[in-house]
Amino acid sequence: MSWLLTMMLALFYSSPLIAITTPTRLPQLEKSLGKILTRLYPLAGRYVEETHSVDCKDQGVEFIHAKVNIKLQDFLVSEENVKFIDEFIPSKIGVTRQQSDPLLATQVTTFICGGVAIGVNATHKIVDASTLCTFVSEWAVTNREENEIEFKGPGFNSSILFPGRGLSSMPCPVWECNIKDESKGTTNSTNQWSKVQLVSAIIWKTFMGIDLAKHNLQRDSKLVQAVNLRGKMASLIPKTSCGNLFGLCTTECTTTLERTEELADRLSDSVKKTVTNYSKGRHDCEEGQVMVLDSIISMTNISRGGPILVPPGSPDPQYLKKK
Ligand SMILES: *[C@@H]1O[C@H](CO)[C@@H](O)[C@H](O)[C@H]1NC(C)=O
Ligand SMILES: *[C@@H]1O[C@H](CO)[C@@H](O)[C@H](O)[C@H]1NC(C)=O
Ligand SMILES: *[C@@H]1O[C@H](CO)[C@@H](O)[C@H](O)[C@H]1NC(C)=O
Ligand SMILES: *[C@@H]1O[C@H](CO)[C@@H](O)[C@H](O)[C@H]1NC(C)=O
Ligand SMILES: *[C@@H]1O[C@H](CO)[C@@H](O)[C@H](O)[C@H]1NC(C)=O
Repeated sequence: MSWLLTMMLALFYSSPLIAITTPTRLPQLEKSLGKILTRLYPLAGRYVEETHSVDCKDQGVEFIHAKVNIKLQDFLVSEENVKFIDEFIPSKIGVTRQQSDPLLATQVTTFICGGVAIGVNATHKIVDASTLCTFVSEWAVTNREENEIEFKGPGFNSSILFPGRGLSSMPCPVWECNIKDESKGTTNSTNQWSKVQLVSAIIWKTFMGIDLAKHNLQRDSKLVQAVNLRGKMASLIPKTSCGNLFGLCTTECTTTLERTEELADRLSDSVKKTVTNYSKGRHDCEEGQVMVLDSIISMTNISRGGPILVPPGSPDPQYLKKK
């Protein structure tokens, strides 16, 4: 099983921005999608499980058009509607693990007011959060510009950046806890947390509460954060590089830590340390590559031992539901 199966995103546009009121808009989106796929061609290929490679014969991606019988503003105005967000994201990728499954699915949903939702769902096998953003922004640029602007980024060049080193597949993170007892003092907060860290801390604390209730015992836990490697190593990994270009950063929490702020501090501190570490390594030499691999292997290790693994920084809220 692979972990965090897909990367998903839904964007909403009110009608003046990209009104698909004229029948030409939809074909335009489809056409620009085709153009961007010629440059990011692995997305249109198929994943071959046996060789952990992508067969690129332009097999294509999913492009779905849907209509909803509601106005965009009526949808967005109610917080209750958050539970329907998934309806704007297509799902037909990698479900059956068949080689025929596309690696990327897109869905354009039109509202009766002319507003539009663009939903994207891509396999995490070759796409990380940054890659998804690059894809979406390049699609937008290609769609917007009358005159073709060539995508000049390195695209899917990650196999050159990080040659394969025999790590075949990712472990599936599980909700477990270890019972190692290790007491550490708390420190006073001097950190600026990111929103992701603060939200992760809240979720982490909630999970610890659930665990306590379930086992009637307060246990230690660990949280794993993904750290984008682009721009963080001693050698340049271009921002628009595509692929899975991240390392992992594991944070431990002992039972003495109770406050959400303290958890957020820990998350922030360990990311800082990890980033400092990465900044000393080069992606183009073995030492740097091993540093990144080690962070992933050590997670594989601890997931068997049994920590909590909630990869934040991941735009995949599904993960938490599926645990
Ligand atoms: C994204 O695709 C995966 C795999 O097909 C699916 O399990 C998941 O439900 C999809 N996400 C949404 C929001 O439909
Ligand atoms: C990939 O990276 C290599 C080395 O940096 C470079 O020579 C090559 O042109 C890149 N490929 C693309 C498609 O950008
Ligand atoms: C550090 O935290 C402790 C306990 O939360 C508090 O009593 C103390 O005033 C704090 N010190 C500083 C310098 O903020
Ligand atoms: C930093 O790198 C050193 C040496 O590779 C390693 O022992 C240490 O655990 C790393 N620290 C972090 C926070 O990644
Ligand atoms: C995995 O865990 C074992 C036992 O805890 C330890 O001996 C080993 O060094 C760990 N390996 C890595 C790569 O962290």
